[in-house]
Amino acid sequence: MDTVSIEIRMATLDDARLLTELGCRTFRDAFGADSSESDMASYLSGAFGVDVQSGELADPSSVFLIAYVEDTAVGYSRLRFRSAPDCVNGARPVEIARFYSDSPWIGRGVGAALMTACLDEAAARRCDVVWLDVWDRNVRAIAFYTRWGFEAVGEADFALGNDIQHDLLMARAVG
Ligand SMILES: CC(C)(COP(=O)(O)OP(=O)(O)OC[C@H]1O[C@@H](n2cnc3c(N)ncnc32)[C@H](O)[C@@H]1OP(=O)(O)O)[C@@H](O)C(=O)NCCC(=O)NCCS
Repeated sequence: MDTVSIEIRMATLDDARLLTELGCRTFRDAFGADSSESDMASYLSGAFGVDVQSGELADPSSVFLIAYVEDTAVGYSRLRFRSAPDCVNGARPVEIARFYSDSPWIGRGVGAALMTACLDEAAARRCDVVWLDVWDRNVRAIAFYTRWGFEAVGEADFALGNDIQHDLLMARAVG
């Protein structure tokens, strides 16, 4: 596969529309085949919209990192600097709350570039543990996180519309 140069930039308030479109598309691409249209539409309408992403971008406890190949946004992640569930060990936790490569770019190094940037940002803010929530049927993502040193530390429910799904909580030390 060709090698591409991936640049990670921190999002600004001007990126709300881009993050709405990229977030909505990548979520549907990842989970649309495994959910009903009504559950998916219900989730997307609450989670994505220019007003929703504008609010998230304005939140000082949240950071978005966007992966670019030239001027094309090819993936993004969202970090949230906030308290973690009890099963996560650490004094200064950070959550990877979103982590998506756009579907044509999956398997081309975008996830690695984003994860490196997430861990660098976590270290810069002196966090000691990074944690995330992943659907227990998302085999590809769990394998990716495991290769990056994450381990299952707990479980949680996640509501996709009316569908209550079972998630794994995974965590690893920073650094
Ligand atoms: C999980 C996810 C974010 C991983 O991102 P990705 O961009 O595919 O990650 P990468 O390309 O960096 O790594 C995946 C694998 O692709 C392959 N790969 C990476 N770069 C490559 C390259 N330049 N050439 C060929 N293969 C490559 C490797 O096999 C790599 O595995 P490794 O970690 O053992 O090296 C991605 O699969 C995704 O967006 N999935 C859908 C959304 C999702 O499930 N998100 C998680 C929600 S919790």
